[in-house]
Amino acid sequence: MAENPTSEQAAATEQPTLIILYGGTGDLAKRLVLPAFWELYSRGLLPKRWKLVGNGRGDVSHEDFQGRIHAALSEFATTPDPEHWKGFAANVLFAGGGFRHDNPGTLLDVIAHAEADLGADPTIVHYLAIPPSTFEQTTRAIKAHDLAKGSKAVYEKPFGTSLASFHELDDLVHSVFEEEQVYRIDHFLGKEATQNLHLVRFSNRLFNDTWSREHLAQVQIDVPETLDIADRAGFYDETGAALDMLVTHLFQVAAEVAMEPPISMAAEDLQAARESVIAAFRPLDPAEVVLGQYRSYRETEGVPEDSDTDTFVAARLWIDTDRWQGVPFLLRTGKMMTRSAQRVSLIFRPTDGPVHSSGNSTNALIFDLKGNGAIEIQMTVKKPGPEPLPAESCSTLHLENVSEGSMTAYTSLIYDVFAGDRSLFTSSAGLAAAFEAFAPLLGDERPKVELYDDSSWGPPAATALTDDVGWLLGG
Ligand code: BG6
Repeated sequence: MAENPTSEQAAATEQPTLIILYGGTGDLAKRLVLPAFWELYSRGLLPKRWKLVGNGRGDVSHEDFQGRIHAALSEFATTPDPEHWKGFAANVLFAGGGFRHDNPGTLLDVIAHAEADLGADPTIVHYLAIPPSTFEQTTRAIKAHDLAKGSKAVYEKPFGTSLASFHELDDLVHSVFEEEQVYRIDHFLGKEATQNLHLVRFSNRLFNDTWSREHLAQVQIDVPETLDIADRAGFYDETGAALDMLVTHLFQVAAEVAMEPPISMAAEDLQAARESVIAAFRPLDPAEVVLGQYRSYRETEGVPEDSDTDTFVAARLWIDTDRWQGVPFLLRTGKMMTRSAQRVSLIFRPTDGPVHSSGNSTNALIFDLKGNGAIEIQMTVKKPGPEPLPAESCSTLHLENVSEGSMTAYTSLIYDVFAGDRSLFTSSAGLAAAFEAFAPLLGDERPKVELYDDSSWGPPAATALTDDVGWLLGG
């Protein structure tokens, strides 16, 4: 959303809304999606009248599901205030037995029950917080049980695992929903600081005028994580870092940086500008990609002993537009690394003189995407003292200081679903282009997966991708 609503603002919609959360007892729901619903509820930003139905294979009672949400909020958000919680829990139901085209489990009965309570013809929001391998089956079931008409459908990522599987899934989804009904979520686009990439650029001449190859030497999008894969082995081992993070979050953030100015800041213009530059991403050259796996990965419960899954990826991406010719976009992410961060760094070329900086100083504009976000400027200033010596200095603007009431990316994006704003969601055309650029990593030419030490910066070969600059964060 362009601006965060405050608690004084109205609910997302007057329209009664029934949310069906597929994968309601899964890891993603518990860590991110349910805390986001709770945050919206706490701020009075859910639709005026709503019900949330969790769906899963297990035989879970409504009360048990409510209890699980309470536990998840206590663990991943804040322990709910008891009075407030009661109001939330009263709107939450569970439908077990899975949901398939030939066997809907108890979902249709629970929907009928919820609709009777809502007392009108509610808008259904299908939220597919399930592994990508089950998108197809659930989409078919939605069609078979006639639940698509007038609804909205939120798909988690990755939406497809290759160009071919993307097209297959996309065709199926379009045979059930109109594109306007579909919200493909990429939560990096919902982060406060990610949205600042276009806002800061287009509203400050200092940055807008230097946002191009004439002034920038390279762009680094760096998302190292100290996390291992925790209890996500099933999802992770069939996905890997390149699909989980590169073709999804890192490509979308690269597109945010690389987009041409949109005609206006209207939702559809912004989305079109971001998504159309992806068509200019040059297909990755496997020789410019490093894949890695942390040493203890195969000891994780649920991971095959001979797994070849990548838990690290670093890539040099080229964008074939006039603005970006010759400027490498360096993308890096990995699990079990030495530090966690989410940084987009625009690294400026050195000036032509007369001051030549100390050699190890880098002039950079850095967007820190974590949490409430921050913007840093790294530059050379005069070292205080009698000599006219240059020194490196860094100044940070914490966005929480200017954005009272900021929300998590998930909260912000789910609000947009209710409000019908698709500007921060990925489009079909944009994802097709992303998978085209990503395709060389999936074939026979896929780079060999190199082992790296736990809590390190990943395989040393990744450093060579940056030429002489090095990764700003380290490694
Ligand atoms: C998810 C990935 O989409 O993003 C995870 O599946 C990753 O592997 C996570 O850890 C990082 O996002 P954030 O911003 O929530 O830390």
